[in-house]
Amino acid sequence: MDALELLLNRQSCARLAGPSPEGTELETIWQAGLRVPDHGGLHPWRFIHVSGEGLDRLSEIFSAAALNDGSDVEKAKLMPYRAPVITIVVSSPRDHDKVPQIEQLLSAGCCVQAMQMCAQALGYNGIWRTGAMAYSKIVNEELGLLDHESVVGFLYLGAAMSKAKKPRQHSISDFVSSI
Ligand SMILES: Cc1cc2nc3c(=O)[nH]c(=O)nc-3n(C[C@H](O)[C@H](O)[C@H](O)COP(=O)(O)O)c2cc1C
Repeated sequence: MDALELLLNRQSCARLAGPSPEGTELETIWQAGLRVPDHGGLHPWRFIHVSGEGLDRLSEIFSAAALNDGSDVEKAKLMPYRAPVITIVVSSPRDHDKVPQIEQLLSAGCCVQAMQMCAQALGYNGIWRTGAMAYSKIVNEELGLLDHESVVGFLYLGAAMSKAKKPRQHSISDFVSSI
């Protein structure tokens, strides 16, 4: 896929199913995620791969979190099955005197975007999701996150099950000014 075409027309897809990226394609997606701008080369992120039985495990984790929060357990239980593969992007910032934590978090956000773009370039699609599960203490603990780590996004990946609408075009003058 042409790079400009992808950059100008990227769109998320929430309805995903198999076939999903696997093997070398999935590794290519992760490599794209590892190529993000990274001030100081700190690698302040890591990814957790979820597929197959991992989706069942994530479903259990989400159910436990929802039960604890008093939110809809049945809904939470089904969430991981919205795609055949999920890559969880974890921000894992380091202490550094020149690179503030916000920059490290931004770098982790870039990982999600880069992997979504790469998936689309490979003919798949996906959607970046967060929601309450991303900020749940129970989910963080069960996924093995350390105290200083956080979930930046659940990147749901698979084959698009719905046709993308034409992306909304923004007016440049609404967002760009000059000095
Ligand atoms: C940090 C972040 C968190 C998001 N969380 C959710 C989410 O939990 N659920 C959701 O439907 N969309 C979420 N989105 C938005 C989608 O990823 C997507 O961008 C949106 O549906 C618009 O579609 P588009 O990417 O095709 O413009 C999130 C986006 C970002 C940047």
